[in-house]
Amino acid sequence: MTESNLKYTGGILHLDGCSLRKLAQEYGTPLYVYSADRIKSNYKSYDDAFRNTDKIICYSVKANFNGAVIKLLASLGAGADVLSEGELFMALRAGIDPKKIVFAGVGKNASEIRQAVRNGICMLNIEGEQELEAVGEIVKQEKKTLNIAFRINPDIDPKTHPKIATGLKESKFGIPIRRALEVYKRAKGMENIRIAGVHLHIGSQITDTLPFKLAAESAVGFADRLAEEGIEVEYIDIGGGLGIGYENDDVSSPYDFAKVLESYFRGRPQKLILEPGRSIVGNAGYLLTRVNYIKQGANKNFVVVDAGFNDLIRPAMYGAYHNIMPVEESDETITADVVGPICETGDVIAKDRGIRGAKQGNILAICDSGAYGFSMSSNYNSRLRAAEVLLEGGKPRLVRRRETYEDLIRTEETR
Ligand code: LLP
Repeated sequence: MTESNLKYTGGILHLDGCSLRKLAQEYGTPLYVYSADRIKSNYKSYDDAFRNTDKIICYSVKANFNGAVIKLLASLGAGADVLSEGELFMALRAGIDPKKIVFAGVGKNASEIRQAVRNGICMLNIEGEQELEAVGEIVKQEKKTLNIAFRINPDIDPKTHPKIATGLKESKFGIPIRRALEVYKRAKGMENIRIAGVHLHIGSQITDTLPFKLAAESAVGFADRLAEEGIEVEYIDIGGGLGIGYENDDVSSPYDFAKVLESYFRGRPQKLILEPGRSIVGNAGYLLTRVNYIKQGANKNFVVVDAGFNDLIRPAMYGAYHNIMPVEESDETITADVVGPICETGDVIAKDRGIRGAKQGNILAICDSGAYGFSMSSNYNSRLRAAEVLLEGGKPRLVRRRETYEDLIRTEETR
């Protein structure tokens, strides 16, 4: 959506005072551009909204793993939520304090678990009984104590896209809540394992606070049940953050979120952990793409741009809506599908949409692309991954160069 840090000046769209046309000319397209100011203010609104709650805000690295972005969040005091050894590596490299790192995921391998142990992270969030056994073996070999939580699956409907609902009983995540107590009891007797918390995550792009209220109720109730069994935990981790207003701004704010959660955490012995990703970086990022052609099909128009689903997969994968703004200000609108160059009919960024300023050679800004944009990009069709620019106080810094054909073959073994 149109953000306050976006403005047309002299007919050209500027972000934090910086011309997006100039950036497209200088760094080429497709190009990801992020506003550091916006990332900071998004982080700070969580920090401020939850100022009365003892908490750690663990930025979910999967949303955007650019080192400069993680470093910026580290400088604000953020922790990290990671899902793989790669994300753990990125978080540590960016200076995130390991004591503020939580690690979830249904398929952690031995090397990933070992790294969690060696780095003394805040909590490894275990998702199944066999994983607990694997962890038990590794801590024995490493002769080091590991803080753990179990991710419980509370069977709560988050009212979001089915592909990103994670806390329903049909989903692969977590341990069904009715079995969880047994697993905690099993872990209690294990050597080098310290039970530190309760974790859950019910889904992403949740714009209403009600599912979070149900999740908090479930987690807090479960922690009380654990206490009755003599298992006192230090943290309650309620998973990801809020959704963002891709299509309209009618979404809950961190303040609404805090109001709901505070009542559960007031006076409790546990610290709250939040793992927001999308709401920290999503609306801070734009994908700039050039219009290559306007093309008339048999019964519709196509705006063919130079970004494909290898650059931004969300519309193709979830039918997601991203607002599109012309970088060269224009009132001329055509109704069209905005499509990329990829060899698949599903390579669509917008469908049957009124697109302003879609002229050959013009630049379009695909809004709200800072989360799950570059981080889900690929080299499909041997396309080079885009460059990324971070605007710091409106000054551009190239934080990832565009790939080259050399990069495409760098890891091949051709003999
Ligand atoms: N914590 C855990 C354990 C997660 O699995 C996720 C996201 C998050 C935190 C961050 O959630 P957020 O605050 O960003 O909602 N690729 C999809 C989103 C997948 C989210 C998966 N898990 C998309 O583009 O919409």
